[in-house]
Amino acid sequence: MPEGLQHISQRGYAAAEKPVRIDLELYSQAVKNRYHRGSNPDGAFPMNVAENHLCWDMLKEKIESVTRNNSIPEWVASYGDPAGVRSFREAVAAFLSEFLVHQEVPADTLACSAGATSVIEMTSFLLADPGDTAVIPAPSYPVYTMDIGTLPGVKRFDLQNHHEVYELKDGFPIHISQLEDARRTIEQQGSRFSMLILTSPDNPTGGIYAESQLEKLATWCEEHKIHMIVNEIYGLSRIDIQHPEIKSDYPSPLSFVSFARLMQKKKSPYLHFWYSLSKDLGISGFRIGLLHSYNTGLIQAYRNAGMPHCISNYTQWVMQEVLADKVFMREYIKAAQKALTDSYVIVIRHLKALQLPYNPSYGSLFVWLDLSEFLSRESEEGQHNLWLEIFEKTGILLTPGAGFGHSKKGLFRMVISCLSHQELEVAMQRLKEFIIKKRNEKPTLPLNNEQI
Ligand SMILES: Cc1ncc(COP(=O)(O)O)c(C=O)c1O
Repeated sequence: MPEGLQHISQRGYAAAEKPVRIDLELYSQAVKNRYHRGSNPDGAFPMNVAENHLCWDMLKEKIESVTRNNSIPEWVASYGDPAGVRSFREAVAAFLSEFLVHQEVPADTLACSAGATSVIEMTSFLLADPGDTAVIPAPSYPVYTMDIGTLPGVKRFDLQNHHEVYELKDGFPIHISQLEDARRTIEQQGSRFSMLILTSPDNPTGGIYAESQLEKLATWCEEHKIHMIVNEIYGLSRIDIQHPEIKSDYPSPLSFVSFARLMQKKKSPYLHFWYSLSKDLGISGFRIGLLHSYNTGLIQAYRNAGMPHCISNYTQWVMQEVLADKVFMREYIKAAQKALTDSYVIVIRHLKALQLPYNPSYGSLFVWLDLSEFLSRESEEGQHNLWLEIFEKTGILLTPGAGFGHSKKGLFRMVISCLSHQELEVAMQRLKEFIIKKRNEKPTLPLNNEQI
């Protein structure tokens, strides 16, 4: 037991007992022993934290030119609007309008905080009461549990809408009847279904929601006075599904349409949107996230309660200058999407050759793959052991399925944007050797190097 626990509150005790995620210890081990072509060729590949390093050099140069060529404005040193200073919100609104929503996003509908994490926490705190429940289609981002739970006291309900990855081929099979069932179950447990949280493109599956599906879900939520929030944190991290090597994976392709467009049409107090610069711009360390909502009461509450979560004015100033350069941002997004697609294709090429099931992705920084054929036991423990074995034998650290809330065991998330293309090739080669060896240990599915 760590020292001093007996002197803190029950909440503090609970927090001390619960690490934010189970893979952090191995992550720091993998980072210390990171692969390097020249100096550490047998090193590890930490592929479990959702970071995007693909075009950092390009953005870094732009940020450095802003800080080098401009004098810091006076307002930067003072307190500002807790929901984000006006000039920053205007720059972010113009960026979203131009590149993601393709329709005007008013600056007054935005409230900003230190990363999507704090935006999720703040929004849950303001929309739901302690003991309420948020429904989240499974599998989904494990850290939602802490973001909605630790301070807001909201419970997570993982809505099972499929079991096998191939069931996602025409989009998420989420039906109103499942939401009705979830509502009944939640109410029977003495709680209230107060939020529906969707992520599009999704973490971990890379799936997206069709516009018509979003509309149906939004109408149902409004009718039942349930808040629907779509997290578009991966909104610009999109895969080019026309790429010749992957095109056949999308026989009936869906189109990405931002939920913010529907919000603008409906102007409902129950519809909301989350975004952050952590993923699309690969600057998770800058801590910039935002809520977009036409619920003016919610924005006001956010402003009044948001002081502990403010983004530093210096960060707001630097990024408003960067975002204002539309020519640069267009080039950056184009380069980032190309690099991401190239990473994705490297991974998929190997998975196809190895006949490993995965969900064809429309966007995000992930591949969600099914390694269940290698489970010694179909259980959390079997999954955990396989995760450790992959790390031990290949140096590849994936995110295990635990915490994603999904019914099927043996699914893993691979982050594809944290390595260079050269590193990714090496990692996939190691994974290939591991798979071949495992299959050869099992007489049923032999495969050798020549077949691949
Ligand atoms: C779906 C989702 N929401 C929120 C976050 C947290 O983002 P931020 O770094 O902006 O707090 C992540 C990070 O992985 C995520 O995947």
